[in-house]
Amino acid sequence: MKYTLIAATALAAVVTLGAAVTAQESQNTYGVSIVPEWNEKGELIRPKGFRHTWVFLGSPFTPNALNGGEAGFPEYHNVYVQPDAFHAYRATGKWPEGTMFLKELQLTDKPGEEEDGSRYEVSGRGYFPGAVNGIDIAVKDSKRFADTQNWGYFNFGHHAPPYKASAPAAPAEACAQCHIDNADEDMVYVDFYKPILTPLPN
Ligand code: HEC
Repeated sequence: MKYTLIAATALAAVVTLGAAVTAQESQNTYGVSIVPEWNEKGELIRPKGFRHTWVFLGSPFTPNALNGGEAGFPEYHNVYVQPDAFHAYRATGKWPEGTMFLKELQLTDKPGEEEDGSRYEVSGRGYFPGAVNGIDIAVKDSKRFADTQNWGYFNFGHHAPPYKASAPAAPAEACAQCHIDNADEDMVYVDFYKPILTPLPN
């Protein structure tokens, strides 16, 4: 009886280990170690920890005051990418399968004092970061998103946190089409990130 129990426990452990290895292997079909994760509905699960473990690539900024009060995204667009994808791009000039660009929106801190929305700090006249206000993500997965040049686009809310835990792929006309029509290279506005993607000379 005792031996049967031990044998059953051992078997269960082997089965569990096998399942874990299989899950890990299937994740490794991506070329990155921080992988996109999908729920049972095929929605992208919002990645955690990007602020301290991903690479910060830059902050395009389109304030309302410079856009007739009607900027689509009146915030800083803080763009992050996984470290593996960053290194792969530096080495090969290509974004690997599983690359995620995460864009966190960040408002300016106070209303502008000048017509262009700028105001003054002891450092000078300018724009200063305030509350975060939304997350958008682009994922490279040539199997899931073959129809939109291998990238899928996701919106986790355009408002103060908390953000949605998962999001479905946005319709092509909402996101992908503008990237197809206008992006610099492989659906990404990479020219804005090149200054950071380029290693500093020693
Ligand atoms: C009208 C064109 C347009 C539409 C529509 C659009 N984008 Fe973009 N997107 C841009 C531009 C331009 C940039 C880079 C400059 C910036 O952020 O202002 C960008 C950057 C991004 C980035 C950072 C990586 C990159 O490709 O540079 C992500 C992520 C992103 N967009 C996601 C989305 C999502 C999700 C949607 C739909 C909800 C969307 N975009 C809709 C034009 C667009």
